[in-house]
Amino acid sequence: MAEKLKVTLREKEFREVIGKPVVRVDAWDKVMGKAEYIDDCPIPGCWYGGTVRSDVPHGRIVGIRQDPSFDWSKVVFVTAKDLPGPNEVAMVRRDMPVLAEDIVNYVSEPIALVAAPTKALLRAALKAVKVEIEPIEPVLTIEEALSGEKIIWGEDNVLAKFEVKRGEVDEAFKEADIIIEETYRTGHQEQLYLEPQGMVALPRDDGGVEVIGSLQCPYYIHGAMTHALNLPPDKIVIKQAVTGGGFGGKEDFPSLLAIHAAVLALKAKRPVKIIYDRAEDMVSTTKRHPSRIRHRTGVKKDGTIVAQDVDLVLDGGAYTTLSIVVLQRSLLHATGCYNIPSARILARAVATNTPPNGAFRGFGAPQSIFAMERQMDKIARTLGLSPVEVRRKNLLKNGDAFPFGQRVEDDGARLVFERALAISEYERKRSEYSKDQGPKKRGIGLSLFLHGGGFTGAGEQKINGKIKLFVAKESVELHVSNVEMGQGAATVLTQIAAQGLQIPFEKVKYCQPDTSKAPDSGPTVASRTTMIVGKIVLRGTEKLILQLKEYVSRHFDVSLGDITYAKGTFFENGTPLADFFEIARRIEEERGPLEVIGDYVHPPELNWDDKKCQGDAYQGYAWGASVLEVEVDTDTWEVRPLRDTVVVDVGTAINPLLALGQVEGGSLQGLGYGYLEVIEMEGGRYRNNRLASYSIPTSVDCPDFFVELMEIPCSRGAFGAKGLGEMPLSGGGPAVASAIEHATGLFPTRLPVTGEILTSLEQEGDERRS
Ligand code: MTE
Ligand code: MOS
Repeated sequence: MAEKLKVTLREKEFREVIGKPVVRVDAWDKVMGKAEYIDDCPIPGCWYGGTVRSDVPHGRIVGIRQDPSFDWSKVVFVTAKDLPGPNEVAMVRRDMPVLAEDIVNYVSEPIALVAAPTKALLRAALKAVKVEIEPIEPVLTIEEALSGEKIIWGEDNVLAKFEVKRGEVDEAFKEADIIIEETYRTGHQEQLYLEPQGMVALPRDDGGVEVIGSLQCPYYIHGAMTHALNLPPDKIVIKQAVTGGGFGGKEDFPSLLAIHAAVLALKAKRPVKIIYDRAEDMVSTTKRHPSRIRHRTGVKKDGTIVAQDVDLVLDGGAYTTLSIVVLQRSLLHATGCYNIPSARILARAVATNTPPNGAFRGFGAPQSIFAMERQMDKIARTLGLSPVEVRRKNLLKNGDAFPFGQRVEDDGARLVFERALAISEYERKRSEYSKDQGPKKRGIGLSLFLHGGGFTGAGEQKINGKIKLFVAKESVELHVSNVEMGQGAATVLTQIAAQGLQIPFEKVKYCQPDTSKAPDSGPTVASRTTMIVGKIVLRGTEKLILQLKEYVSRHFDVSLGDITYAKGTFFENGTPLADFFEIARRIEEERGPLEVIGDYVHPPELNWDDKKCQGDAYQGYAWGASVLEVEVDTDTWEVRPLRDTVVVDVGTAINPLLALGQVEGGSLQGLGYGYLEVIEMEGGRYRNNRLASYSIPTSVDCPDFFVELMEIPCSRGAFGAKGLGEMPLSGGGPAVASAIEHATGLFPTRLPVTGEILTSLEQEGDERRS
């Protein structure tokens, strides 16, 4: 018999953490002001970097003149000619240059870079550069891009195109009693993370470079930097600094910024940091894609949909960035939560001479869902039915299929819908608010929405995410490339690892992402972290426990099958043998550091055909319903959201408190998209580049939220979790439009529903409700 090992019976220390409102692991540092955002990080000898930009939307660069009266020996100056590698930012495509060389394609496009030892000198140097540009006629709208009169991208200005078809659509339209057509439009939306974009690059002695910054996707930047700097992967390290929000805005753009900072740092031979102020951030970084979506729906008199045609166009801006994947998500969410027996969806993203649009919470879905939900209200209005009736008739049920073929696996859509109607007292309030009111009219509206969790189609297989668990003394480090940006990933992943290992929550340490330590577990996008990466973490924990078990088996000469593990202790037929950290320590002594890699396994039952856009697009669907009450002042057209009842099925809520926060925050961001947030464009230029002129909802505009979490577990997510971070945003826009319709009788077809829109609808003679 082997010597006895320590058994401290950690059972008492262990507590269940799944489904518990554990306090955020980042709370203390943030509340105490100790968290270091990139601009707070002390970096000795660091210079400041800045950008010379285009002031026209389209043109040919004929000269870059450096004022000879400025002392250029004191600063570092970089144009496209000085780049160490290909002038390409490698993302999904490589069509975006690091610096414009010959042609500029949008206002604010980077043309040259400067680094200087002080901010004052940087400002002076930027002023001493004059770029001469010969203007070319720009393409500024979706319509101009589609017309093909001026070609600015490829052969036809189309950045991406997909089509989905189900059934014999033309035949099915013949079965309809009535065909309802409408065109819906949505505008830009600015992510408006609290902390603007910022990045520091530090040259290394071996010719490599390290980048630290505010970012969502360490390995996207890593890939883009290896390409643009022409360096081997091991010469580049990306670290995330504490990040003050991303909302998708720090998914693609940081690749460009990191390359800019690195190019300057390599030339200056010292660290360089580029921190945007709010104005520069707002005019030059990506926004949500504006859309134009045409619906043509064949319906029976009772409201049953028999066929649907959707023509969906997104404005991608000057370069591809993430438009291909944003468009795909738009396409796959185009028919919302409804069962459409015959459907044809054409989706295109087009190029315009405006700043490239990119990822923003929801990623194409908020545009699609707005159009679909409005169309449901239009059907109700046209047929004289209630919005509830029309939705009930067509809701996706367990077993129904989406137009791309995937079958729905639960009744989430119906359950959240009925629950939201019941607890909001929708019917009673609807009839009450329909009675005559004064100039301030109340209205109640609703929306139904969904979110496919994780990457689309084969995306997760391609990424093939990995995580690392490293056993340190008396704690386990979790290394992933998924970042904390406010959404709670650090806490939730810690909960998952602790529960998987059955050790106390405090014994797991989530490590700030660093590509020199963490394997590529994929980007922090598509609400995939909890659901998909959480599952990979769990696989890692199983692997680690198995390794320890094998050691216990050999050490005690007990067959593997007789060993059980629970709450930090290994047992043989109920008798405790040894505890987790004791075994780990022994293995480390014998063989060196103990670490395991958890890897991704694709659910074998899911199949996706990328070319045909058919099959199982997502690993699971989260569902939501919002019932929103608003007050509209018909003298001023001021809209006030009063009360928002939101019921969401998020699968297992790993941390219900954080989940509630995501639902409230996302819903409010969706309401802002719905009635407040206007980006004004003039000649391809964003006019409102400050918070004074770009209004978002503040605490004063926040309605009373009544959020209920419904938990229908999804077997493919960690502990049954579904992707929840983005979904709530999709509900706000259509709910606010629907509530305004009820209050005013006007039928808004575009977002945001501003006073100007309401005035023009009124002037068009849309019927006012008496
Ligand atoms: N919540 C906060 N507080 N801050 C953010 O930047 N980003 C959103 C959402 N919620 C965001 C947020 C976006 S765009 C995504 S994709 C998801 O969180 C990502 O989180 P997950 O992958 O951890 O679900
Ligand atoms: Mo979120 S838009 O997928 O970063």
